[in-house]
Amino acid sequence: MTTPESAVYPPSEDIVKNAHVDAAKYDARYAQSLEDPDKFWAEQAERITWIKPFSKVKNVSYDFGNVDIKWFEDGTLNVAANCIDRHLDTRAEQTAIIWEPDDPNEAAKHISYKELHLKTCRMANILESMGVRKGDRVVIYLPMIPEAAYAMLACARIGAIHSIVFAGFSPDALSARVNGCDAKVLITADEAPRGGRKTPLKSNADAALLHCKESVKCLVVKRTGGQTTWVDGRDYDYNEMALEANDYNKPAEMNAEDPLFILYTSGSTGQPKGVVHTTGGYLTYAALTHEVTFDYHDGDIYWCTADVGWVTGHSYIVYGPLANGATTLMFEGVPTYPDAGRFWAVCEKHKVNQFYTAPTAIRALMGQGPEFVEKYDLSDLKVLGTVGEPINPEAWNWYNDVVGKGKCPIVDTWWQTETGGHLMTPLPGAHATKPGSAMKPFFGIEPVVLDPQSGAEIEGNDVEGVLCIKSSWPGQMRTVWGDHERFEKTYFSDYKGYYFTGDGCRRDADGDYWITGRVDDVINVSGHRMGTAEVESALVAHAAVAEAAVVGYPHEIKGQGIYCYVTLMNDREPSDELVKELRQWVRTEIGPIASPDVIQWAPGLPKTRSGKIMRRILRKIAENDFGSLGDTSTLADPSVVDDLIANRTAKG
Ligand code: WTA
Repeated sequence: MTTPESAVYPPSEDIVKNAHVDAAKYDARYAQSLEDPDKFWAEQAERITWIKPFSKVKNVSYDFGNVDIKWFEDGTLNVAANCIDRHLDTRAEQTAIIWEPDDPNEAAKHISYKELHLKTCRMANILESMGVRKGDRVVIYLPMIPEAAYAMLACARIGAIHSIVFAGFSPDALSARVNGCDAKVLITADEAPRGGRKTPLKSNADAALLHCKESVKCLVVKRTGGQTTWVDGRDYDYNEMALEANDYNKPAEMNAEDPLFILYTSGSTGQPKGVVHTTGGYLTYAALTHEVTFDYHDGDIYWCTADVGWVTGHSYIVYGPLANGATTLMFEGVPTYPDAGRFWAVCEKHKVNQFYTAPTAIRALMGQGPEFVEKYDLSDLKVLGTVGEPINPEAWNWYNDVVGKGKCPIVDTWWQTETGGHLMTPLPGAHATKPGSAMKPFFGIEPVVLDPQSGAEIEGNDVEGVLCIKSSWPGQMRTVWGDHERFEKTYFSDYKGYYFTGDGCRRDADGDYWITGRVDDVINVSGHRMGTAEVESALVAHAAVAEAAVVGYPHEIKGQGIYCYVTLMNDREPSDELVKELRQWVRTEIGPIASPDVIQWAPGLPKTRSGKIMRRILRKIAENDFGSLGDTSTLADPSVVDDLIANRTAKG
């Protein structure tokens, strides 16, 4: 196998000189982190303020049937106290959160650590007054407003477990998550402004709550003042209650292994699973990676454009930055509103030093031309980051040249909801970068490339296979909420003794890592994870649909698009109206992010004689790659393939 040549961009001397970690430090610490993980992580955990120090560092079993992951297990701490209270002596007046609203004409807010403390304490007291106790679950369904951070931190403060649902999810998806974790309270807002439009969050919440236990209460934050219906006894007015709430709330003493949050994410089968992260290890890992990956220095202004509905928002808007006493920017809007210069306008306005976004956004903005970037003064930028999907070299080069002016290292951070924080990334002052490569493992991370069939480790360089991790790290997920068996089966059964990532990867001739994409039935649409099985089950829930098979296909802006093969019931005829109806149906069932890009009518699907759908073939057809369909002779009816190709070709 040959490795394509790649340009290599070493960091400038200036960056190396000022960086927390240079090449020599990386090498030494990485070696130490694998040789003596207990010593390494005990030292790293000193960045956290513990109520009761831990005596044990790591206690991990990857044995299938007995997977058990514990870090710092007898230590106690409080995450909110670590993110707020302990900074008050030195940073009370420092801005913790800069909030930039959707509408650029509305004023930005600068929330100091002192104010963050006050607002979080009040929110914590409100939740307690609604009956929320340690260990209870709270679902958060909010726009990107400061109250989302207050809500997360308030839960952490009282020991409640939050589960955030992205505001773009539908009422059905929301109720499934409220029920899935048996939440006591749902926190929402009247409306979510985004790109000049408003999503009616409270109406969605009302619709969702019809399918939840009657005892679930709803705390409503006022964002726009838009009209909402009100259910007395169930709905609580946050803004009213905050006026009355006590200004102090004592942080609960939590065990390092108590759950901090649940976050639902898509897998290759079935419905989304609730990824569980715990307290001590997660915070240690989020804080360390935030500081080292972005080379964050005291006083820097840091901006991650993600939504708190995704793990990136958890670790790199809220927990990591605030644990480090950073100033973190929270943006309510979208990259293209009011125009394609918004990101850069915000960078200039708030003098952003580290900027972290997704390849899909970069691709969309690249298409609008460099003028939108060149209008703004971006001289404060030091480090650029990407996350969520592989970045293509064109987008990387544009980011590097047009945005970074060739002077800002790009950290291409590979990680997952499950991993809590970055597992592979170049470090700004330690590594050269290559367009599209996640380059190096983070401290404590031991990646291995396995042969997909035999499961054997493939040694050496210039090799490709499935990506597993041999070691454990403190930020690793601990279980699937309510289903530990599913946790073991998903991540520890295919390749025994390893954590299986679901990604393929290549280790190039220099030993650097390139993520090649998912090897399972998860697709990555605009950096959002989507299980093909979820879209299929939404489609077959429609009365006209007999069967559906969904695959990903290359999409210029989104990275991957959603391609659906649909077999209709005998009595239904294909029509353009039905395409529209099915698209809308999926949006209603899951949310706009799951909207099908292509629906192709399929009188039959390619199946083996045992009835298994051959997705490999469907993927190739969706990719317009008919030359490498492979052996179709094992199909029950090989002629369906010709029919699908004929229809695909007709679509051009
Ligand atoms: C993909 C997002 C290539 C990958 C933090 C992974 C990436 C999935 C990168 C996790 C990257 C994430 N390069 N692929 N830098 N970052 N991915 O759970 O397929 O939403 O398994 O977490 O996104 O998506 P998730």
